[in-house]
Amino acid sequence: MRGRFIAIEGLDRSGKSTQCDRLVAHLTETTGNKTHLFKFPDRSTPMGQIINQYLTSGVALSDQAIHLLFSANRWERIEDIKALLEKGENVVLDRYYISGIVYTQAKGLERQWCTNPDLGLPVPDITLFLTVSPEVASQRGAYGEERYEKIAFQKRVAALFHEVAQRNCITVDASGTEEEVANAINQCVETVQIGEALDKFSGL
Ligand code: TYD
Ligand code: MG
Repeated sequence: MRGRFIAIEGLDRSGKSTQCDRLVAHLTETTGNKTHLFKFPDRSTPMGQIINQYLTSGVALSDQAIHLLFSANRWERIEDIKALLEKGENVVLDRYYISGIVYTQAKGLERQWCTNPDLGLPVPDITLFLTVSPEVASQRGAYGEERYEKIAFQKRVAALFHEVAQRNCITVDASGTEEEVANAINQCVETVQIGEALDKFSGL
C-alpha cells in the first residue's frame, strides 16, 4: 500500500514547521514506516535559491515570474515525492499549492491564473490548515524579516486561506500550546482514508 501524503498549510508563524516535525515523528512511530518532510519553498534547489533571494529582497521579480518559480519548485521535487509514496513511505509537506495560490492571489492576480501552473500535481490525502490570527502570528519570533511578513498582506492572505480551506482543508486551531495543536493534528490524521491512486489537482 502507498504511504500517507499529508500537507500542512497556514500563515507565516502559524507554527507549521514545528508541527510538521512533530507529525513526522508521530507518523514514523504509529505507522512503522519511514516518513519524509518536504518543505516548500525548497530553498536548496537552483530555483529555490532564486526564490530565497526574492524573499530576502536580494532580487526583484515580477509577481508572475516569482509565482511560476514557486510552482516550478514544487514540480522539480514531485517525482521524488511520488516515488517515496509508491514505496509505502509517508510524506509530510510544509506548504504546497494552496500557499502558492493564495499568496499570489493576495497580490491581486486572478485565482484561475494562479491555479494553472499547479494543475496536475498529486492531491494530498489530507491538507490541514493551521489557523492563527495575523495579530497573534506577528507577535511570534522573527516576524517582519521577509518580504511577505507584513500584517496588511498577511490579512489578505488569511482571508483567502479561510475561504479556500472551507472546501479543501481540515482547519486546526493553532493558537493553543504546541502539545494541544499536535494532538489535534494527530487526531485528524488518524481518520484519513488512503485511496490507491493519487488524485491530480484540478482546481480549488
Ligand atoms: P515559509 O514557509 O514561511 O518559509 P520559512 O519557514 O523558511 O520562512 O515560506 C516563505 C514564504 O513564501 C512565505 O511567506 C509564503 C511564501 N510562499 C509563496 O508565496 N508561494 C508559495 O508557493 C510558497 C510555497 C510559499
Ligand atoms: Mg516564513
